Amino acid sequence: MQVRKARLQDASNVYDIVNSLSGDGTLLKRSFPEICENIRDFTVAESDAGVFLGCGALHFYGPHLCEVRSIVVKPEAKGQGAGGRILGTLLEEAEEHGIHSVCLFTRIPDFFFKFGFRTVEDKSELPDKIFKDCQNCPRLHRCDEVAMVRGRIPRISILGPRHEAQELVRISG
Ligand SMILES: CC(C)(COP(=O)(O)OP(=O)(O)OC[C@H]1O[C@@H](n2cnc3c(N)ncnc32)[C@H](O)[C@@H]1OP(=O)(O)O)[C@@H](O)C(=O)NCCC(=O)NCCS
Repeated sequence: MQVRKARLQDASNVYDIVNSLSGDGTLLKRSFPEICENIRDFTVAESDAGVFLGCGALHFYGPHLCEVRSIVVKPEAKGQGAGGRILGTLLEEAEEHGIHSVCLFTRIPDFFFKFGFRTVEDKSELPDKIFKDCQNCPRLHRCDEVAMVRGRIPRISILGPRHEAQELVRISG
């Protein structure tokens, strides 16, 4: 198995697998143009024969926070380490960029506990995530996902009404 950064040629596989699980809300629906635009966020796993096994993405909010998104493995490839390898690679990528807080929303917290994530009881402690995805989500008031973070919860946010961009520029500098 190989785990590597995605190339644009992976976009159709990423699109198919992510949207195969968006109908029931397991993953956020992503359009093909959106996946192409953000393909450099993605890491993919493939077999030694080059068969696509799964993917995951790391979205940067800023130097204070990033998010693991769209992590999924083909049903027939589950349980063979691909999901863990993809997640580990995304976490290494966050560290390479000096980001010490990684968040996600999920229905399977047990998987992420294994990788050092912990539950965030109050979702409003992650305002950037709320502003980016939750505000327009049909499940806003009946969300069945668990918010999780690895590292500290950021004290600042970059999206929404409370802009603290200057503080972020200072941190990243
Ligand atoms: C979650 C998912 C990516 C895991 O991929 P995978 O390749 O099967 O995972 P791995 O084989 O690398 O498993 C790594 C570890 O996590 C555990 N694990 C895997 N899936 C798990 C789950 N759903 N719940 C709890 N633990 C899980 C494995 O037992 C293994 O533990 P171990 O190291 O103690 O043996 C895969 O099941 C999947 O695609 N699920 C559907 C999409 C989804 O729900 N994504 C998460 C959206 S936030």
